[in-house]
Order: sequence, then structure tokens, then C-alpha cells
Amino acid sequence: MCGIIGYVGHNLCIPKIIHGLENLEYRGYDSAGIAYVLNNKTKIIKEKGKISNLKKLLDFDTTTNLGIAHTRWATHGEANKINAHPHSLGKFTIVHNGIIENYSKLKQELENNGYVFKSETDTEVACALLDEIYKQEKDILKALNKVTKIFRGSYAFGIICSDDPNAIYALRCTSPLIVANSPDGNFIASDVPAILKYTNKYILLDDFDIAKLTKDNIIIYDEFLHETKKKVNTFSGTFESAAKNGYEHFMLKEIHEQDKVFKDTINFYFDGTIESLKKNFSFLKKYNKIDIVACGSAYHTGLVGKSLIENYVNIPVNVEVASEYRYKRCFYDYNTLVILVSQSGETADTLAALRKAKNDGITTMAIVNVVGSSIAREADHVIYIKAGCEIAVATTKAYLAQLAIFSLLTIYLGYQNKTISENELNIILDDLKKMPKLINDTIKNYNSYFNIADKIYKNKQIFFIGRGIDYALSMEGSLKLKEISYINSVAYQAGELKHGTISLITKNTPVIAIATDTKLIEKTISNIKETKARGAYVIYVSNEEPSEKFYDELIKIHKVHPILQSILTIVPLQLLAYKVAKNNGCDIDQPRNLAKSVTVE
Ligand code: F6R
Repeated sequence: MCGIIGYVGHNLCIPKIIHGLENLEYRGYDSAGIAYVLNNKTKIIKEKGKISNLKKLLDFDTTTNLGIAHTRWATHGEANKINAHPHSLGKFTIVHNGIIENYSKLKQELENNGYVFKSETDTEVACALLDEIYKQEKDILKALNKVTKIFRGSYAFGIICSDDPNAIYALRCTSPLIVANSPDGNFIASDVPAILKYTNKYILLDDFDIAKLTKDNIIIYDEFLHETKKKVNTFSGTFESAAKNGYEHFMLKEIHEQDKVFKDTINFYFDGTIESLKKNFSFLKKYNKIDIVACGSAYHTGLVGKSLIENYVNIPVNVEVASEYRYKRCFYDYNTLVILVSQSGETADTLAALRKAKNDGITTMAIVNVVGSSIAREADHVIYIKAGCEIAVATTKAYLAQLAIFSLLTIYLGYQNKTISENELNIILDDLKKMPKLINDTIKNYNSYFNIADKIYKNKQIFFIGRGIDYALSMEGSLKLKEISYINSVAYQAGELKHGTISLITKNTPVIAIATDTKLIEKTISNIKETKARGAYVIYVSNEEPSEKFYDELIKIHKVHPILQSILTIVPLQLLAYKVAKNNGCDIDQPRNLAKSVTVE
């Protein structure tokens, strides 16, 4: 989603800011803009589309050393130049991530007071309100503090006030914002990659903190306007980890990193002994009902988690999409645990679901990738996956690492509950050791999946079917395909197809059928035959050699213990989606309309 960077220091700001903005491109955006101060005057330049369009309008040698910039992912008003950030009204120029929910009422009041708006954005309303309050308070900090009492919603602001042209102000509520000091100046940013070239040390602002940055100083005030000291964090990833390393796309690079990500994630919690799992997960023992809440792919991980925990631990698991969960009536009992799954740790609906559970006095645990993100900080327990920086909008390695965590939790809880025997445990652990190599072998087989993609990429719709855990994987396979290739794709429980959807199957409609659960394979094969009889082009994904030929293409994957199987099965589906999208000339790493981190409701 939207990205923010600002710099004030001893060097020219435009090159630094544009570099930082480019490192935020992966979040997804549809316009970009910059405001800088030159001879005490604020100048705004913005443009629709990619940052490259904005760059054409900029003189990189402009002698300005203070600026703020933004990549916008449209929420209020269409994606055009007028609605692009920064916005300016009165004495204030602002870049903004998030949504001010009560902006419409505020806008009316401000219009009545004489403010005239050019854009449809909530951000321009924020400029006007700040300006109005500043006129009364005559103090920037007090005005900033006062607007926090009026705005409802989420915001991270980078702000320039024309009465103080040597400072950048920053303010946040819910949407993340960091400040950072580098040898030649100070930064604000929505995300670490924006500043990583200049420093890996940063401070995460808390809600309602206000930061004032000048070229030699960063002062942070808490919500009572008292100066406050904050912990300085160190980002341990490298800048190179955010580069493509010779791969054509970040998505392809990230798919190829999955064996390492699996190993890093498992090794962090498990040293080969049950003792290590006990040390990390023993707090889970007392819960006998679990709600898993997440969005998109993370929700699909939760569906796999449900299947594993219910089958191997014997406790009920409810999986919900966060945007529904946050508004529904929940039936918790005393020993309910709510697990939030989120790569970014900033997804607005998942964060709201977490807060709802906490408000209701329920223990929460988050499975998160981004260290220090809001969800990680607010959950009672955090389990970090070790996926590293994920740049492609479509998640792959984070999804796989989330599956790895659910496998580990299942192994631990199943063993503790004695629903997994010592004997079975040994079989699982044997397979666990082999997994990095098997993941790697599955990736290396990419040419065979690519050949299949070459045969189906022109189709207008592609179906996925499966039963049980394979249905959960079908949903992820289908999402991966449609989000990056724009081909309509639906995932169905294999047995449900004939209750309506099968009418859409005609000659050569691709049906990707996943069957890895031995006890359900025969049933799924019957459903596959039903589609075949209607002309479907069947791509059969299984870990067992079929005894008859009811398919057109076979993707044979290695068979491992069911607790680990999904981690292998998803890999060909990711690569299939990738190649279908590539053949269609799609913008794979930044699919249209999508954002990496969905910080609005
Ligand atoms: C799909 C995808 C999204 C995210 C979803 C949740 O490839 O990446 O569906 O899974 O937006 O995001 P996080 O995990 O950051 O909460």
C-alpha cells in the first residue's frame, strides 16, 4: 500500500528520497509525489503511475535538503495526479498512509469555514484541519496533538509546515511509521527498506507520538507532549536481500528461497529435540479451542493449520477471515486461543481482530514475518517466521514458512496430547530433516510445471479442486494464479463441484486437481472423472502414482508425512501461476490494484 519517506539533512534530498521511494515500490501504488523546501518555500511535484514518471519531472541537483514523498494506493478518489500526495492547504503539506474515517463530516465543516478542496482525498482534509487548529493554537506540536483527538481511523503522516521550513514532523496512529538517524541527516519512513541504504537503525513511533526532525536532531514527544526516549531497533536483513539476485522477478527469487526459509524457520524453534519445542511452545498446552484469524493467503495457511491441528491434536479449530471476524459475535470459552497470521504484521483487519480478542480478554498469538510490526507488538505471544524481506506482492515464501510453523505446532501439541505416538513422531522427524532438499528438488523440477503452464495460459478460467487439506491448498493455488495472471480461477471442494459449478466446465477447461490425502484420493479421482467426462483438461497433482490415466498432465510430488505434505504440494502451484502470468505479460511482482501490506480496512 502507500509508502512514505522523508529526509532532512546535510545532503541534497531528492536523490535520497527517490531512492527510498523506489524501495517502497513493492508495496503497490498508482501515483507518486514529492514536496521539498527550496528557499523557505514548499514545492510539490506529483504524477500518476510509476515513480519513473515522477522522475522525469524532477531536477536531481535541486539544492534542497528537506523533503517528503509518497507512493499512493488509491482509497479516497481515483488514481490520478490531483489525488496523488503530497497535499497542501494553508500552511501544511502532508503525505499520508491510512484512512481518516470521519473525513467526510470534517470536510463539510471545513468547507463551511471557507476551505476549498481540490482533491477527493481525506489527506487534504487533514491539511485543512491542521491549518485551522494551528491558527487557534499557534503552536505546531499542540495542533498536531489536538488533531489526534479528532481524527478517527488510521494514519501515518509526514508533515511540513511553512512556518517551520527546516523541520519535518511525523505523527502516527495504527499505520506504521519509523524515524531514523544517518550520518548525514534524519529520515522518516513507512518501512525499513526505504532507508536501508543509509542506516539499519531505526525507531518505531508509537500511536500518537509526534516526531520533529531537523538536520541534526530527532525529538520525539509522547501523547502528552513530553519529550520521550525510544528504543533504537536494528534491522538484521541486508539491502541485497531486497534485490533480485539475477532472477527475472522477485516472486521467482522468493520461490527459490523456500528451502532456506523452511530450514531457518524450523531451526529457530527446533534443534531436533522435543525439549526445544517445549521451550518455545509450552504456553500453548492449556488451550483446547483455537480461532485462527487472517486475510488472503495467510487465511489459507490457517485452513491448512486447522486441518492439521484437528486431525493430529484433536482440538477444534475455527478459521475466519479477519474482515468478518472483527465484526462477528465470537463464542470464546475460557481456554480459547486466538492465532493471528500475517506476513506484514500490519494488515488492518487482522490487527483489528487481534484487538477485539484482547478486549474480550482472550489470549492471542501471532505468526508474523515483519519484526516489530504492530501485530507482533500487540499480541500476547509472537512466533516469527524466518522468511526475510518478501518483496513480491503475491506471497510465496512467507506462506510456506507459515505452513512450517503450523506443522511444528501440530507436532508439539500432538506429541504432548499423546495423539501422536513416539513411533509416528520419529517418522515425522525423519521427513522433517529431508524437507529442505525435497523442497529444493520440487523447485528444480520447474520446467515440467512451466511446460504445463504453456499449454493452459490462454484459457479464460481455470478451476482448482481438492478435498480436506488439499482443498485448502487449492484455494491458495487458485489465489496465486488469479492475482498475478488475472485469469478467473475458483477453488472448489472436489465433491461440491457437481452441485452447480460443473456447468462451467466445457471442452479444454483446465481443472487442477490436488490429491495427496491417501484416504480421500479415490473420492477425488471420481470427481476428476466427472469433469473429464465434460471435456476438462485435467492437471493432476498427487504424491501417489495413479494406477490409471484419467488426467492430461501429471505433477507428481514426493510423498512425506501428511503433517509436512502441504509444504511440498504448494510449490508447483506457485510456479505454475508464475509461468501462466509471465506468458500473459503480466506485472508479476506488482499486480494491478494490489498492495503488499493492506493497512486499510
Ligand atoms: C496473496 C497475498 C495476500 C496476503 C494478505 C494478508 O498473495 O499476499 O492475500 O496474504 O493480504 O497479508 P498479511 O499476511 O501481510 O497479513
